Parts: sequence; structure tokens; C-alpha cells
Amino acid sequence: NVLILDFGSQYTQLIARRVRELNIYCEIYPYNNLPEDISSFRAVILSGSPFSVRSEEAPHPDLSEIKGKIPTLAVCYGAQYLAHFGGGNVAPSNTREYGRANLSYVKDGEVFFESIHEGSQVWMSHSDTIKELPTGGVRIASTHDVANAAYRIEGEETYAIQFHPEVYHSTDGKQLLENFLVKIAGVEQSWTPDNFVDMTVAELKEKVGKEKVVLGLSGGVDSTVAAVLLNKAIGNQLHCIFVNNGLLRKNEFQSVLDQYEGMGLNVKGVDASARFLDALAGISDPEEKRKTIGRVFIEVFDDESHKIEDAKWLGQGTIYPDVIESISVNGPSATIKSHHNVGGLPDFMKLKVVEPLRMLFKDEVRRVGASMGIDPELLGRHPFPGPGLAIRILGDITPEKVSILQEVDSVFINGLKSWGLYDSVWQAGAILLPVNSVGVMGDERTYEKCVALRAVESTDGMTADWVHLPYDFLQKMSNEIINKVKGVNRVVYDISSKPPATIEWE
Ligand code: XMP
Repeated sequence: NVLILDFGSQYTQLIARRVRELNIYCEIYPYNNLPEDISSFRAVILSGSPFSVRSEEAPHPDLSEIKGKIPTLAVCYGAQYLAHFGGGNVAPSNTREYGRANLSYVKDGEVFFESIHEGSQVWMSHSDTIKELPTGGVRIASTHDVANAAYRIEGEETYAIQFHPEVYHSTDGKQLLENFLVKIAGVEQSWTPDNFVDMTVAELKEKVGKEKVVLGLSGGVDSTVAAVLLNKAIGNQLHCIFVNNGLLRKNEFQSVLDQYEGMGLNVKGVDASARFLDALAGISDPEEKRKTIGRVFIEVFDDESHKIEDAKWLGQGTIYPDVIESISVNGPSATIKSHHNVGGLPDFMKLKVVEPLRMLFKDEVRRVGASMGIDPELLGRHPFPGPGLAIRILGDITPEKVSILQEVDSVFINGLKSWGLYDSVWQAGAILLPVNSVGVMGDERTYEKCVALRAVESTDGMTADWVHLPYDFLQKMSNEIINKVKGVNRVVYDISSKPPATIEWE
């Protein structure tokens, strides 16, 4: 019930996440594609933008249905937009207005600033500044360099701030959002995982009726939570397929399958390892590997879904960041689009699509999963790439290399768990290098494989840094790997950040 209007700022998603953290539901819409029933929203937040309001190409949406009618919070560009087109004056700033600043003046008695005081740190990121407020504007806060750091419009529930409350460095940002949304706009804080589950189960029942849904489980958090939700709604009308592509972690296929069955899911495990490994034989190019795995997966999934008579729906674990990307101001990024010739689509792709998590962020998916009683260990699993170990074996892939890497990976991951380090790492794994090096074991010269260990911290995989794992731990891992895994005589640790490196080596 809160609308966030996106003007293309890199922080728009962050606004949505902060609002959701307050247990308030919100949706992002691009400024050039407004929802039809705007009056049903209880509050509106206008985002920042990379543009200057004075530029010809800048977003200039018609806000006549919003401003003065629905409580509105305008952030950064939004604040400048209201000033520029409301009788004020926006001009380039004389001083740099990026980064840390502190409120030097806060007007007394403003509900908007309740529990926020002079000195509070805020984060600025703008090159224009509001020289004169719009008609009816009342200054309610300043910083040392920015006189009009916040204003409101007299007689309206319209508030505007030059700084970014959504970023972590604006210390009272969440309080400010709460003041605006709860105290001023009167929005209820009822967006909780339990409510989401109740609401979604009812919707799914209604939508799917008595029809059958096919869903591919990957062992990851999203597809699992989507399946459990659907299972709650439609029980055995849900048919899950879990494919072993032969590139999973050691024992993962069986243990995850057992776990799924234990959760009461109607799941069929399909071991297609040989089909994948045959198709991959001799391929070294990373993109070629990905394409091959994608193609074989579609073939296997198509074969299996044909065996389910009368399936009408395809269930998917799509989450909100994917949805936002596809509808964003900047449009979907070219890389995630795959162009299918409709006539040539596999049959399962002609099914109607049901995506119960399409409005959730990743942390919300975990909370919803927890509220349905899914094992915390499953919910806390590190991300694992779809092509699996294929992109961690540099060069061509053979069954023998897969099995060496599975052993190494298993020592490393179990080590992280038993040393209590697993949960402080965002993602970890091992890479099998196409390099042999000389070693000595007993009195024998060896000439065997080298593996790299990788452990990173990150929040979304977009940027990442290597984790400073304790030397004692690394020593223990190196020892255990070389002693236990036949064919490996050297272990190195990857100390590259992303950027400029990436998390995976391929
Ligand atoms: P990179 O290597 O791009 O990885 O820094 C970022 C995140 O994406 C995962 N990743 C993939 N996931 N298919 C996937 O499903 C892929 O082809 C793929 N490539 C990378 C990677 O594991 C990390 O979490």
C-alpha cells in the first residue's frame, strides 16, 4: 500500500527494502509507467535520479494525482523536482554535496523529525541544490552546506528531503521513514511473514483451483520456499522435479531429495548426470558450458513435465529484484533476456506461470521460509550457481575431475561449518585449476592438480570481498585436502575482490 516512484536512482531498491523492514508493504513503479489506481495507495515516495531536473531528458511525470492528495515523501531528485516545478529554484551547487553531513538545524515540533535531533548524520549525493523553496514550502532542516536539506508544503502532507534516508550512513533514516509512513501517513505495519503466507496461500488456491502445477526445484532457497508455499495451498496438485545435473556438491542430490520428501513435497528426483556430462565432454569455454547445461536442462525438464498429465501451470521461484530489473526505468538488462522463437518453445514453457515470491526480497524469502518451519540450515545455505561445479572446473570437464572437486569442496564446506565460520561467509567453494605442479609425498615426487579455495563476503553478489579466514583454519584445510583427496598436491587461497575479479572463476 505504499508506492515508490522510481526516477532511475541506484538507491530505489534500498528504499523499498527499508520500508519493508518496517513491516510495510510497498511496490516500485517506474515514473513512466504509473499504476492505474493511484488513489488506492496510502503514501508515495519519490526516488532520486541520476538526472538534473534542469535537463531536457530528465523524468517529468505528471504528479497531479499524487501531490497534495496522498502523503508524499520526495527524496533528493524528487525534492528538487517538486521545487523546480512548484515555483522554487534549483541551481548547480557551489560546493560538493556528496557523502556524510550532519543536520545543523531541525525545526521544533515537527512530527517528521520526531526522535531525530540536530547533529544526526545524513548522506548526501547531489550536484544541484534547492536555492528557493516552492510555493508554500517551509524549511524544516538544514546542514552546514545545504540550507534547504528538508522542507514541507504548508497545508499538505508533502515532505521533501535532499539527503538519502535509505542508505545505511543516514543514521536515523529508518526512523524518518517510520515517522513519515506511520505517524504522518497512518500506514499500518502489518506486512509480516505470517500475514504474507496466509494471504498468498489464499490467493494461490483461488488462482490455481484444481489444476496441476509443475515446479523445478534446485536445492536453493527461492525454489524451495516457493514449493512449500504452493504445497500449503494445493498439496499434491504440485509436482516438483529435482534434476541431478551431475555437477552438484558431494551427496547433495540424495540429501536434498530426502529433505524435500521429509517436508512432504511431492517431488521426483531425476538423475540426468550422464546426459549432462556427455553433452559437456570436450567443452572448455565457460559460456559454451553454460549454454550446454541450459539446453540439456530444458530437454530433461521438458521430458519430465510431459509425464505429468494435464499440467497447466509452471511454478517459479522468481523474486522481486528480477521483477524490478525487467520493469525498471532502464529496462531489462540485455544479458538476462533470452529470445525464444515462440513456435520452438519447449512445451512446459507454454504453461501459465505462477510466481508466489515475485514481490519479495531475498531476506523476506528467508523470513517467510522460517515462518513456515523450513529448516534454518536449508534457508541459510550459500548461493550456488546453476551450472554448478562446471564453472569451477577450469578447462574441460570429466567425471574424474568432478569427483576430485566434490571431495575438495566437501572438506572445505564441512570445515567452515565445524569451525563456526559458515554463516559469516556469503559464499564459498573450491576451484579445480588446469595446472599440475610438482610436490613431494613421502620420498616420491608428485605431479598433481592444484585447487583454489574461495570465500567471499557480499550482500547481493554484485560486489564482494575475500574473507580473512583464520590462518589456522586455512592451514588445516590445506592439510586435510592434500592428505584426503587423491590427485591434489597444492592448495591456494583466492584473495581477489569483485570488482575487478568476479566471484566465480568462469
Ligand atoms: P560472479 O562470478 O559473476 O557471480 O561474480 C555472482 C554470483 O552469481 C553466481 N553465478 C551464477 N549463477 N548461473 C547462476 O545461476 C550462472 O551462470 C552463474 N554465474 C555466476 C555466482 O555463484 C555468484 O553467487
